[in-house]
Amino acid sequence: MSNARFITLEGIDGAGKSTHLAWLTAWLQARRIDPVVTREPGGTPLGEQLRALLLKEPMHLETEALLMFAARREHLERVIQPALAAGRWVVSDRFTDASFAYQGGGRGLPQDKLEQLEHWIGGIQPDLTLLFDVPLAVSQARMAASRELDRFEQEQADFHARVRSAYLARAAAYPARFRVIDASRDIAAIQHDLATIMEGLA
Ligand code: ADP
Ligand code: TYD
Repeated sequence: MSNARFITLEGIDGAGKSTHLAWLTAWLQARRIDPVVTREPGGTPLGEQLRALLLKEPMHLETEALLMFAARREHLERVIQPALAAGRWVVSDRFTDASFAYQGGGRGLPQDKLEQLEHWIGGIQPDLTLLFDVPLAVSQARMAASRELDRFEQEQADFHARVRSAYLARAAAYPARFRVIDASRDIAAIQHDLATIMEGLA
């Protein structure tokens, strides 16, 4: 496992991404790979300020998409591209697929507008995208146990259903880089699958 890889984690809110990100980081570190672990929206000082706005302030759906991609442009420039160029692995909690799922599927922004923004910022694709997929009832039960909900987490069930479908459509459209993981199972079973996927990444 020498070549630097760009890995992204995706899924609806409450799918278990944060839980598995921590495990994946430890798995890499045990193999002497010290990844750059980052997140979107965010990952840079400016991106974190945009994140705070995005998660709280009501705004037009195009403003929301533009700010997501503005944060991403900064993230690519300051974190992702320099790390990959230096031979570091990068693990990002969400990336462009989230914009297609949330702003596209969830909010209904036309796909071609999102594709234009993706093209504008350079169109870089992850080497591997782990999609943690759960039925809505499961994610909602998990979220109910969590603290304060942000602007996206507060959306109705039909919003999250559209986000989930859009993610699954992305996975079907890009099977070479996506791995869909049934994240409704217990954590040990999911980790077993993750280890198999990671070992295949050599
Ligand atoms: P996300 O980052 O996708 O929003 P989290 O990792 O924060 O989700 O998980 C949400 C909650 O669900 C947490 O309390 C976490 O411990 C729990 N959880 C995550 N995955 C599982 C699982 N496979 N089985 C049971 N509980 C889980
Ligand atoms: P998330 O990454 O789930 O953080 P936490 O686990 O701390 O809640 O929160 C970010 C939210 O931003 C999430 O609800 C999805 C949303 N989002 C988009 O709508 N579009 C995007 O392009 C990205 C990256 C995130």
